Parts: sequence; structure tokens; C-alpha cells
Amino acid sequence: ITPDGKLVKPHHRQLLALFSNRHGLRGFPPVLALGASIICNKMPGLASQQRTFCQSRPDAMVVIGMGAQLGIEECQYQFRHHRWNCTALGEKTLFGQELKVGSKETAFSYAILSAGIAHAITSACGQGNLTDCGCDQDKQGYYDQEKGWRWGGCSADIQHGITFSREFVDTREVKRSARTLMNLHNNEVGRKLLEQSMRMECKCHGVSGSCTMKTCWVMLPIFRELGFNLKSKYLQAVAVEPMRGRRQRQPTFLKLKKVHGFRKPSDSDLVYVDRSPSFCEEDPSTGSMGTRGRMCNRTSAQGDGCELLCCGRGYNTFQYMRTWQCNCKFHWCCHVTCSTCSERTHAYTCN
Ligand SMILES: *[C@@H]1O[C@H](CO)[C@@H](O)[C@H](O)[C@H]1NC(C)=O
Ligand SMILES: *[C@@H]1O[C@H](CO)[C@@H](O)[C@H](O)[C@H]1NC(C)=O
Ligand SMILES: *[C@@H]1O[C@H](CO)[C@@H](O)[C@H](O)[C@H]1NC(C)=O
Repeated sequence: ITPDGKLVKPHHRQLLALFSNRHGLRGFPPVLALGASIICNKMPGLASQQRTFCQSRPDAMVVIGMGAQLGIEECQYQFRHHRWNCTALGEKTLFGQELKVGSKETAFSYAILSAGIAHAITSACGQGNLTDCGCDQDKQGYYDQEKGWRWGGCSADIQHGITFSREFVDTREVKRSARTLMNLHNNEVGRKLLEQSMRMECKCHGVSGSCTMKTCWVMLPIFRELGFNLKSKYLQAVAVEPMRGRRQRQPTFLKLKKVHGFRKPSDSDLVYVDRSPSFCEEDPSTGSMGTRGRMCNRTSAQGDGCELLCCGRGYNTFQYMRTWQCNCKFHWCCHVTCSTCSERTHAYTCN
């Protein structure tokens, strides 16, 4: 519902923006709360507990949307040269289409989304955008006289962000199955990796930079850093299988697949229960988009090379003129003149 009362059908990214108002997220007007209940009911892809949450905390819902977006964009960046390029994420619903196969790619998606949400919530807390949290209170006031430093400034309250993400994201996994155990495990891996990448920053005080006294605080990592870390976890993801506890019908935990006897997966490894499809052809049953029409690189031997990306189906060559500004000269004073250069180049797309 637009501020002037019209009912429109927005894209999900716009949908979330409806909750905010020009006073920021704090002074959230009750008039919009009415809209929230309607919007939360209509928002696709939420589990019922998430829907209830959405109605009670529309302000946090905006931040959750930003966190999911952060995760999706990082996923697309990390997989831009892969056959699977994160397409299933970020479409139609907050969490993207449900990924049907419990593959390594699915593992990565869950980890990056739950980390993205924890990151965004923590960051919003630190900026005073949410009412129930702020800077980490534990990292305040402590003073180490011997070593000459103290906590100061605003330390990111990562514990709050992580608990929040756990409570919101993990409520989706209600039934006990191999897939829900896998999802819960990978959600936790993403959050744990985020927690481990927190950094301590310090600032020196003292006579002419002598650093007799330091003020320190804890900072969130840049999300890209986490993206690279999770990508290497993806490359080393481990196969697991579900196990039932004694006298239980549903699986209750996961064990490593290749190992004889019993070993639980490490809580810092991404896990998967299904082999990945090739992602060569479009296949709704696995959520594969296929690679037809993807741009490829004719000379690269990596995943973005035409041979690998197009799965041997061959590729189309396009010729086009690339133009850009060149030979720019600075004239006193003050303007710049450039000429236009152009060159014939090629682009390749998969058949
Ligand atoms: C906090 O609120 C400000 C103003 O509404 C906004 O520009 C900023 O992006 C928000 N930050 C986070 C992390 O939510
Ligand atoms: C991913 O690949 C599909 C085709 O397979 C393409 O339509 C889409 O634009 C790509 N997405 C990104 C983010 O590159
Ligand atoms: C194609 O791949 C080669 C080798 O990896 C690289 O040097 C080149 O910059 C790539 N071209 C494009 C257009 O990305």
C-alpha cells in the first residue's frame, strides 16, 4: 500500500521498502503497522512463524530484507564464472526459490543468507536503527591499566545479530529430515564464520601519537571477505548422510558419508546430502537454469571459458564496436577534451 493509500503489487525488493519512512526506521508510525499485517500476509516464501514475526517487527523486517540482499549479491559475485550463478536466489521471495536438491550450491546459499542477515542486523544495531539493540554493552568501560587500553566507541554486537538470525532463519526448518538437518548445519556455519571474522580496531592517544593509551572496539568484517571464505568452504564441502537416534523415526543428526564408523561433520564445514546436477541444461526439478545464453570467455580455461560453461554445446560469436573516451587533455583552466576511440570486439554466448 502506497503512502497515499493505493494498492499496488510491488517487486519484493520494493515491498520491504514500504516499511521504512522518512524518519528512519525508529519512529515507526502505527498507521503503517496496519499495512504491515497486510504486507506480511502477502509476502511470499515466509514460514508461518516468520510471518508472525514480520507483523510484530516490521522495522527488523526491513533489515532482514537488506541482509538477504547482501547475501544474494555476494553469492552472485562469487559464482559469476560458474554454471550455477545463484539465479534461484533473490527471485520472487525473500529467500529465493526453494532449492530442491541438497547440493553444495544449496549449502552455500543457506550459509551466505544466514550470515547476511546476522551481518545486517548487527550493523543496523550499531547505527541505532533498531529499538531493541545497540553497541555491545560488554565491551564498554573495561580498562586495562597495565597494557594501556580500554574498550571504547561502538563495538558491534555480533552475538545479538547471530541470535537474531538463528531465531528468524532457522524457524523455517520445522520437520526433521535430512534436508532440514543439512540446512540448519549450514546456516550455523555461515554465522560461525562471520563471528570468526570479527576484527578489533584500535586508536592511539597520547602525547604526539605516542600511543600511551589505546581505545579499541570490535568491527564487522566487510561482507566480501566472508564471501571468499565461504567460497573456499564450498570447494571443500563434505558429503553427509542422516542418522536416526535409537527408537526414533526421523533422522536426528548427520554423519560423514565416506567414513567408516561414525563421525559428525565439523561445525565449520559446509555439508551436503545430494550430488550437484551438472547445471548444463534447464531443469526445474533440480532448480538448474542451464547455461544457454550465458556470456563466456573464449580464451579462458576456467569455469567461465566457453568450453566448460557451454558444456560442449558450442557458442555464438557477436561482433560489435566498443567505444570509449580516450586521449583526454586538460586545458588551463578548466576543461578537458577527449576524443572517441573505438575498436571492433567480440562477445560469445553459449548455445
Ligand atoms: C540505518 O538507517 C539509515 C537512515 O534510515 C540508513 O541510511 C542506513 O542504511 C541504515 N543502516 C542499516 C545498517 O540498516
Ligand atoms: C545467470 O544465468 C542466467 C542464464 O543461465 C542469466 O539469465 C542470468 O542473468 C544470470 N544471472 C547473473 C546474476 O549473472
Ligand atoms: C578471458 O580470459 C582470459 C584468460 O583467463 C583473460 O585474460 C581475459 O581478460 C578474459 N576476457 C574477458 C573479456 O573477461
